[in-house]
Amino acid sequence: MNNWQPDSWRSKPILQQPEYDNQEQVNDVENKLSSYPPLVFAAETRELRRQLGEVCQGKGFLLQGGDCAESFSEFNAPKIRDTFKVLLQMAIVMTFAGRCPVTKVARMAGQYAKPRSSNFETIDGVTLPSYRGDIINSFEFTEQARRPDPSRLLDAYHRSASTLNLLRAFAQGGLADLNEVNRWNMAFVEHNPLKDRYKDMASRIQDAIEFMKVIGLNALNTPALHETTLFTSHEALLLNYEQALTRTDTLTGKPYNCSAHMVWIGERTRQLDHAHIEFFRGIHNPIGVKVGPTMDEDELINLVDVLNPLNDPGRLTLITRMGADKLEKNLPRLLRRVKAEGREVVWSSDPMHGNTFKASSGYKTRNFDAILSEIRQFFAAHKAEGTHAGGVHLEMTGQHVTECTGGAYAISDDDLKQAYKTQCDPRLNADQVLEMAFLVADHLRK
Ligand code: PEP
Ligand code: CO
Repeated sequence: MNNWQPDSWRSKPILQQPEYDNQEQVNDVENKLSSYPPLVFAAETRELRRQLGEVCQGKGFLLQGGDCAESFSEFNAPKIRDTFKVLLQMAIVMTFAGRCPVTKVARMAGQYAKPRSSNFETIDGVTLPSYRGDIINSFEFTEQARRPDPSRLLDAYHRSASTLNLLRAFAQGGLADLNEVNRWNMAFVEHNPLKDRYKDMASRIQDAIEFMKVIGLNALNTPALHETTLFTSHEALLLNYEQALTRTDTLTGKPYNCSAHMVWIGERTRQLDHAHIEFFRGIHNPIGVKVGPTMDEDELINLVDVLNPLNDPGRLTLITRMGADKLEKNLPRLLRRVKAEGREVVWSSDPMHGNTFKASSGYKTRNFDAILSEIRQFFAAHKAEGTHAGGVHLEMTGQHVTECTGGAYAISDDDLKQAYKTQCDPRLNADQVLEMAFLVADHLRK
């Protein structure tokens, strides 16, 4: 890896970073973080990279999801548990229908930094710096709250550690038991207006579980029935934080970013000659890059080659976020080119970020039909081009929020105010997530 160092990004142009007014405090925080224990172990990260290699070859599916932005104020066990549960529910439906393993990656335990389209926000004639995520500043609209505070980097680290601790406990300690997970799905189906459409699949999964019990497969002799693996991920936006958690793995001697198993670069910071690409090219984690509708084919090949020079399957996931109205024009040309050049990537669909708009009620929202439409078109484009639709990337929560319109309960513009809780982008609620799971499952089965 020529000329790469954990800090070589510092000599490149960089976007979307906070401007702190106390640089000494920033240095002090970076030193502390560098001395703290890593949040994940490099060998876990290699296991994720191996699984994504399988996905790349059409032998698996990636499910990645969680909050747009985790928040310090909603840092509690029920919140973590509910998102964990709904991720698992979705995974079981997709595993069964797709007859392929689903790799689960949470947007959790570190998803605290947000790129923003504007540096400032104006409300009633008052202009203040934009909210950039709880790792940087606070959501309240006051001058004090919006000032970037370096001590938040440490708060985010400690909260990520606690979140990860609980996720590991849930995954290994019994909450992920297959019987339980499908029981939750049966309850969802029973209460959903689209019950008849889903009932068949949920009860066939139940039959499969009963059958396994009869032939003697149980939690004691088959741990996979009782526990699971959930990986973590976030947008690695604040490179000083990511650098401080980057460590040389003692087993391989290679640098890994140990702030999460997988990290990705956002649509706004993926310029080839900029700092984020420089940092990412040197870490050995599996990585993602968001790809929007303006991406050019040559640029994409250059990006792929800088980030995955050995063309290793599983190293790089391209997360496309086109918008339902732009996908048809822009995704097939990229799929064709990457295939023609023989580049190995996982293609995942983020159907959220290209479909955001401001409702007449003033809330930033997304329409569930547009989200489903992007997913359907994603599968159709891959089918037409002979490439593998490898995954989905969702902003979602296990809680009963009203942030995206539509779905079986037909949330309207007017309903958004009932439970609009996000500090950033609108998320799918638990019902919408499961509705989507059954739809994705239909595609996987085909
Ligand atoms: C996000 O995933 O929250 C995000 C900001 O996405 P994008 O970079 O695709 O806009
Ligand atoms: Co978002």
